[in-house]
Amino acid sequence: MIVTVATMKGGSGKSTVASCLAVYWHLRGRRPTLIDADPQRSIMGLAARERGLGGVAVIEDASEEATKTARRLSNAGGLVIIDTPGFRSKTTVDCLAVSDFLLVPVKPSPFDVDRTLDTLGFLTERPDGRRPLFRCLLTQTTRDSVIARHIRAELTEAGLPVLQTEMQNRVAYPEASLWGATPSLISWKGPAAKEIAAIAEEIDMVLGQQQAAA
Ligand SMILES: Nc1ncnc2c1ncn2[C@@H]1O[C@H](COP(=O)(O)OP(=O)(O)OP(=O)(O)O)[C@@H](O)[C@H]1O
Ligand SMILES: [Mg+2]
Repeated sequence: MIVTVATMKGGSGKSTVASCLAVYWHLRGRRPTLIDADPQRSIMGLAARERGLGGVAVIEDASEEATKTARRLSNAGGLVIIDTPGFRSKTTVDCLAVSDFLLVPVKPSPFDVDRTLDTLGFLTERPDGRRPLFRCLLTQTTRDSVIARHIRAELTEAGLPVLQTEMQNRVAYPEASLWGATPSLISWKGPAAKEIAAIAEEIDMVLGQQQAAA
């Protein structure tokens, strides 16, 4: 199973959510592999810090080999999470072509939504003509904010499905990353860890429904 996190908007939370999901699934015993396909190397930087992402297997590969590695691991029954760069790149296109699921983090601002709408074609048009299964995830939101509600409505109206759970703006995320950790490694029952669990479970549900339908 290959989950790719991608947007053409820098700073939308791709590396944060990719690392949080990988650690969560790792703690649940799923033994995922996290591939850093971004030449910026955010994931590699995290993995080099004290907590080392809790021992998640991390591979650095921003070349076309990344997709081959992802496919090999997935064919062997593994779960792969790919973090991609925030700009158009061949690597992103290649990763999307082999993905089972695309997660698109979107910050609740009109700039981010417009960019998402403008670039969704790039993210979801594959050479085989099939659209990958995807969901948007609202990130860095303020609880019960009007803007998050509006942005959710705009995305939904444009035909883009949005996960119910939002990744709220919480200092727990950058704080955990100081130690190369994610909130799930700091406090399993804390609000940020619970939010990550809910996001992971929603993704599992979407993927499970897809498999049942196939
Ligand atoms: N939910 C959140 N709450 C608070 N801060 C966050 C949250 N998500 C991300 N951040 C912070 O926002 C910044 C950008 O996040 P991140 O690096 O994950 O984005 P990105 O999409 O991977 O960026 P790039 O396009 O540069 O790869 C980081 O400093 C990160 O710690
Ligand atoms: Mg990043």
